[in-house]
Amino acid sequence: MKHIVLNDNTKLPIVGFGTYKATEQEGIESVKHALQSGYGLIDTAAAYENEKAVGKGIKASGVNREEVKVTTKLWRENLGYESTKKELENSLNRLNLDYIDLYLIHWPANSKNYDNWQKTNAETWRAMEELQSEGKIKSIGVSNFFEEHLKALFKTANVVPAVNQIEFHPGYWQPKLVEYCKTYNIAVESWSPLARGKVFENETLKNIAEAHNTSVAKICLRWIVQHNVIVIPKSTTKERIEENLKLFDFELTNAEMHQINELPQMGFSGELPNLWPDKV
Ligand SMILES: NC(=O)c1ccc[n+]([C@@H]2O[C@H](COP(=O)([O-])OP(=O)(O)OC[C@H]3O[C@@H](n4cnc5c(N)ncnc54)[C@H](OP(=O)(O)O)[C@@H]3O)[C@@H](O)[C@H]2O)c1
Repeated sequence: MKHIVLNDNTKLPIVGFGTYKATEQEGIESVKHALQSGYGLIDTAAAYENEKAVGKGIKASGVNREEVKVTTKLWRENLGYESTKKELENSLNRLNLDYIDLYLIHWPANSKNYDNWQKTNAETWRAMEELQSEGKIKSIGVSNFFEEHLKALFKTANVVPAVNQIEFHPGYWQPKLVEYCKTYNIAVESWSPLARGKVFENETLKNIAEAHNTSVAKICLRWIVQHNVIVIPKSTTKERIEENLKLFDFELTNAEMHQINELPQMGFSGELPNLWPDKV
């Protein structure tokens, strides 16, 4: 498995496992199967209400805690210094773990919801930095942060976020934001890498998949890792969990990468950090 070295010198596998929308039993079984199949990175969030199931899946897998990187996220309704500390404890309890490998601010405070969104994000981040220095979190990062949110955070932050987890799939991949993150050595992680199946009927992707004798799903995932972006596909189907890990037996040509880069917008979730809780 290829790894990405974060700006705090920790390493994450470039392919991880998503758990959004997995129910209790699906969560336990899929996490267990993913870890036993060779995944070393599991992505959950307080808002998914499945941290307990993820914790049980990790235990049931029999894999050593040190061999699994666990990501969870602070929900956007719980931002702020005190709340961040409390929420981290709640996540640790639900996951039944004594540290988190990567803790993310799920969505930034925005001007629609907070009188002083910059201060709210800064205070949240200060709590995350303290929790990291106490050893309760190994790496700290953000999710769904635009350039403006990162710029504001840099004014008070002592630690540069290790990761920005953003919507990134064929048809919507935010290249300018990715470039901005690269300048600060912030690793980009892709959410909804398969656009939840909404790109599977695209003819360009189907032709490229045929040329490599593989599935459109694997083409999407391979395109993402070839961008050096971490990918966390979700599946509760055993065969797909295994399939999504096998991305290193073929390579997309530069021309194919370019073709996928240039696809018109499709599969966009409609979720934007400046708009929540509304959608486009
Ligand atoms: N930070 C954020 O704001 C944010 C937002 C959204 C998601 N995420 C994270 O990113 C993870 C992935 O995103 P996502 O769950 O939204 O969507 P996704 O991974 O793009 O798509 C998941 C869907 O694709 C199907 N699928 C998976 N592998 C497949 C394959 N090889 N062939 C055909 N279909 C396949 C799954 O079906 P089955 O399960 O039925 O197999 C499921 O319906 C989430 O689980 C979550 O951990 C983060």
